[in-house]
Amino acid sequence: ATSSKNEAEAKRILIVSNRLPVKITRKGDDMQFQSSEGGLATGLGTIYQSGNNLWIGWPGAVLHQEEEASVTEKLEKLNLRPVFLTDEEITYYYEGFSNETLWPLFHYFPTYATYQPKDYDFYESVNKKFADAILAIAQKDDIIWIHDYQLLLVPNLIRQALPEVTIGYFNHIPFPSFELFRLIPWRKELLEGMLGADVIGFHTYDDVRHFISTVIRIKGALSYANELTYNDRIIAVDAFPISIDYKKYQSQAVDIATRCLERELLPVIPQGKHLLSIDRLDYSKGITQRLQAFEVFLERYPEWHGKMTLMQLVVPSRDTVPQYKELKEEINRRVSDINGKYGTLTWQPIQHFYRSFPLPLLSAMYKIADVALVSPMRDGMNLVCKEYVASRTDGDGVLILSEMAGASRELSDAILINPNDIWAFAQAIHEALSMPEEEQRRRMSAMQATVSRFDIHNWVANFMAKLSQMKKRQDDMRTR
Ligand code: G6P
Repeated sequence: ATSSKNEAEAKRILIVSNRLPVKITRKGDDMQFQSSEGGLATGLGTIYQSGNNLWIGWPGAVLHQEEEASVTEKLEKLNLRPVFLTDEEITYYYEGFSNETLWPLFHYFPTYATYQPKDYDFYESVNKKFADAILAIAQKDDIIWIHDYQLLLVPNLIRQALPEVTIGYFNHIPFPSFELFRLIPWRKELLEGMLGADVIGFHTYDDVRHFISTVIRIKGALSYANELTYNDRIIAVDAFPISIDYKKYQSQAVDIATRCLERELLPVIPQGKHLLSIDRLDYSKGITQRLQAFEVFLERYPEWHGKMTLMQLVVPSRDTVPQYKELKEEINRRVSDINGKYGTLTWQPIQHFYRSFPLPLLSAMYKIADVALVSPMRDGMNLVCKEYVASRTDGDGVLILSEMAGASRELSDAILINPNDIWAFAQAIHEALSMPEEEQRRRMSAMQATVSRFDIHNWVANFMAKLSQMKKRQDDMRTR
């Protein structure tokens, strides 16, 4: 048993995602390498940085061909292997099929989805490009872990070339019901692509259920509990709710630098209570609906005027996609309408920021916020709410959380809202601001117990354990 355990541990792991955990940005002729602070990068950090393990993905910039060799060399030292994308590939594969077809449809915005054959052609060819980059390195004993909707075709492309290799796929966004998925002209191809994996992971059981019923109806696969039998292979489909590095956020919160920052901020930010929202610019995040609810709250509860401020942080994202550009303008309009209508010479209801913030500043903001508003229309998981919980080291604070976020299954001690129910949402803001401290502490400590126990390291370990369990079963079946 010990020797097989060592063998399993010695297996090389290849991680694959559209973006590498390092982003290259251009400053004139200079190139800067910036590490991602994201959950995935932290959680998988200890994996790809050790031994022969590697992470394969796009470094986030369009490079001139003569720059590629030197960039590749620099990235290789970090155990990263770049897949370079051209301008055209970014337009049709990334902005097009990934973010104008799959993203809106999987987030239940079918009217935003477009179905352009040219986008799909590029999606297919870029997925092949990723598969080729993997196959140039991969051997049959490797474990290959592919991430997210940009790469749905990759699992099967690898399976065809290396039938015995271990493949995991994780979907970081929701998986929609069959009624939506069937709208895609390339629905069969996409499912076929995913079914190349041995383990297919989602955040919630609802996603699992939607996927299994879609596969049964479109591909006629057989299912038993959480397993599919397809092309004589068993595929496990399961829920693995992703999380954060709890200890990192907890220690950031008590860090001396964060405390200094917090002390510096407190006298300069507006007096009274603070509501905080942090989102990537995205229609799935429900930013405009939240502004509507906030306006109803201002109308119905004038006693709060001048006594609280909404700090709204929006992080720039995908702003070359038309829907995102429009959303940005709509948010600006609404913020300025609300501030114009309700503001006084000494008070502005909303402080709005459109940029990214460094982690220590975010930590200080989480500490200052009496209430966090996390109200997506639809979200695979949502990690902002978990970061808020981990940062509340004093034990108080109130979380308002949308039922449509995967995280709402775990964080049932938040004030749960339906973001479409503007009136109830407005009332929830009033309730949150008025919640007695004892109740805040009771709810927060329950949420902290959950998030600290099921952290990102636990998520990685669970997925990897399932993958090696499936691999063993496949091997047993083959030798039988
Ligand atoms: C979501 C997706 C990720 C994606 C991230 C940022 O979290 O699940 O796959 O990387 O958004 O979006 P971007 O388009 O900038 O990569």
